[in-house]
Amino acid sequence: MAPLEERLAAIDTVLADLPPVHTSGVMQHAPTGVWQTERAAYEFLARCCHENAVSLETGCGVSTVLFALWGGRHTCITPSQEEVDRTRAYCGDRGISLDRVEFAVGPSDEVLPTLKQPELLDVVLVDGGHAFPLAIVDWYYACQKLRAGGIAVIDDIQLPSVSASLISFLEQDPRWQRVGGDPKWHAYHRLSDGSLRDEWGLQVGLGIFPEHSPPSRGQAVLERLRRRMSARIRPLLARR
Ligand SMILES: C[S@@+](CC[C@H](N)C(=O)[O-])C[C@H]1O[C@@H](n2cnc3c(N)ncnc32)[C@H](O)[C@@H]1O
Repeated sequence: MAPLEERLAAIDTVLADLPPVHTSGVMQHAPTGVWQTERAAYEFLARCCHENAVSLETGCGVSTVLFALWGGRHTCITPSQEEVDRTRAYCGDRGISLDRVEFAVGPSDEVLPTLKQPELLDVVLVDGGHAFPLAIVDWYYACQKLRAGGIAVIDDIQLPSVSASLISFLEQDPRWQRVGGDPKWHAYHRLSDGSLRDEWGLQVGLGIFPEHSPPSRGQAVLERLRRRMSARIRPLLARR
């Protein structure tokens, strides 16, 4: 499926005929049988997911069926084999090919560090476990493989357990640029590449942990002056 119009049309098709992926286990309370995100997020992803795109998502659902329809190479990570079986059954009944979709079953914090991902990713969707710090873990491991210019979509950022630290970091780090979203989801353009293992000193400008940041030159000069002054004043005060 190549043209954008067809990728967008696929969203209408799947939203009108939802895959009942989350009908048992801990996820079973989805009112429509599947936990899904906003149509606008799927539309944003459709614009990025041309047929040669390489993508990865944590979590499974409507998005997984859409990635399959969009035709790129896709990896879906979910801890639930039942979700995989239901997705396969839904797609099988409708003639949707899963030939280019690989399912990795297990919690993402276990699967991602060992995942063989030889190609760089164009798109990452973080929508798996929503407890702190799983979104950070997913972002960290998955986005190491995101190419420069690739897109990371973080869903459910209205939940503090998802957004805490991660969104403030991405908003401040010059290596990420927000390119879409609303209060429920954000999309970021990655401007760097390679490992996300960083030297904390390189993140001084982020102001995330200002109390631990090394002082600037100006602050260091002021601090030296303050110490010198108090060293001179202390003996005078002691004489009183
Ligand atoms: C909100 S649903 C995903 C919805 C999907 N992205 C969509 O748009 O339809 C969350 C998914 O994350 C999965 N999940 C929960 N804990 C997980 C974990 N530790 N690692 C990976 N996936 C997890 C759930 O089984 C479920 O499939």
